[in-house]
Amino acid sequence: MVVSIKDAELRRIIQIMKERGESLTSYREGFLKRRITNRLRKNRVSDAEEYIRLLRRSSTEVKALKEELSINVTEFFRDPPVWAAILPVMCKLLEKKNSIQIWSAGTASGEEAYSLAITAVKALKRIEGGFNPAALRRFSILGTDISQNDLREAENGIYPEIRIRNLSMSDRRYFFIEKEPGWYQIRDEIKRRVIFRRDDLSRSRATKKMDLILCRNVMIYLSREMIEEIWKNIRNLTTSGAYVVVGRSETMIPQEREYFDVIDPLNRIYRRT
Ligand SMILES: C[S@@+](CC[C@H](N)C(=O)[O-])C[C@H]1O[C@@H](n2cnc3c(N)ncnc32)[C@H](O)[C@@H]1O
Repeated sequence: MVVSIKDAELRRIIQIMKERGESLTSYREGFLKRRITNRLRKNRVSDAEEYIRLLRRSSTEVKALKEELSINVTEFFRDPPVWAAILPVMCKLLEKKNSIQIWSAGTASGEEAYSLAITAVKALKRIEGGFNPAALRRFSILGTDISQNDLREAENGIYPEIRIRNLSMSDRRYFFIEKEPGWYQIRDEIKRRVIFRRDDLSRSRATKKMDLILCRNVMIYLSREMIEEIWKNIRNLTTSGAYVVVGRSETMIPQEREYFDVIDPLNRIYRRT
C-alpha cells in the first residue's frame, strides 16, 4: 500500500526532528515526503500517525530518517565527460600555482574526492611530462559530507568493482590494490592527499579558500534557500580564477551570475570572475 504523507503530518515530523536537534528545513517538501514514505515501508508501518509515534519514542529511528535523507548514490568518475573536462581545468590550475586546494562538498563515500586525486595525478603527469611522487604535495583535497556513515566508508577507501567501472584496467592497477576478488583499495599515496570531515552545507564550517570546488548532485534535493546559502558560501570560499563544478542537472542561480563565468555549460563548470 502506498502511504502519502499529508502536509500537516510532515510539519509534525519536521517539529519532532527539530526537537531532537535535526533540522529538515533545507530539503524540498516532495523529497522529504518520499523519503519519509520509505521509512514507513522499511518499518512496516502503514500510516503516518503510527510512524510519528515511532519517531517520538525511538532515537534510532530519528537517526535512520536522517540517514535516509542523505541520498548517497555515487561512483568513481561519475559522468565521465565531466571528468574529461575537469582534467584540463586541473592542468591550468597546477600550471598557475604551486599548490592547489580542492573541495568535494557532499562527497558521499569518497569516490568523488578520490577521483579528484586521481585526476590531479594525471594533470601533474601531463604538465610535468612524467610523474615524481614528491609532486603529490602540490594538491590537497577536502571531502565533506553530512553523513557520518558515508564518511566512514570514504576513510576506509575500499570499494566494490562496480564503483570503479569507469576506470580503465591500467588505472585500476595504478591507483588501487585488489584486496580480495572484486574489492579495490585506493593506494595509500593517493589516500594521504585526501582528508574527510563531517560538514553540513547548511551551516558549513569550511573557511579555507579553494581553487576548485565540486558540489555535484547535492543541491537537487535541497530547498531554494539552502541552495542560495551554498552558493554564497562557495562564493566566499573562492577568489578570482577558481573553478566550481555542479551536477549535470543542477545550475548556477541567477544571483551568482555576476560572480562566475560559465566555462562549460554542458558540464556545468564555472569560473570565479
Ligand atoms: C547523491 S550524493 C552525491 C555524491 C557525489 N557528489 C556525486 O556527485 O557522486 C549526495 C550527497 O550529499 C550529501 N548531503 C545532503 N545534504 C547535505 C548537507 N546539508 N550537507 C552536506 N552534505 C549533504 C548526502 O549525504 C550525499 O552523500
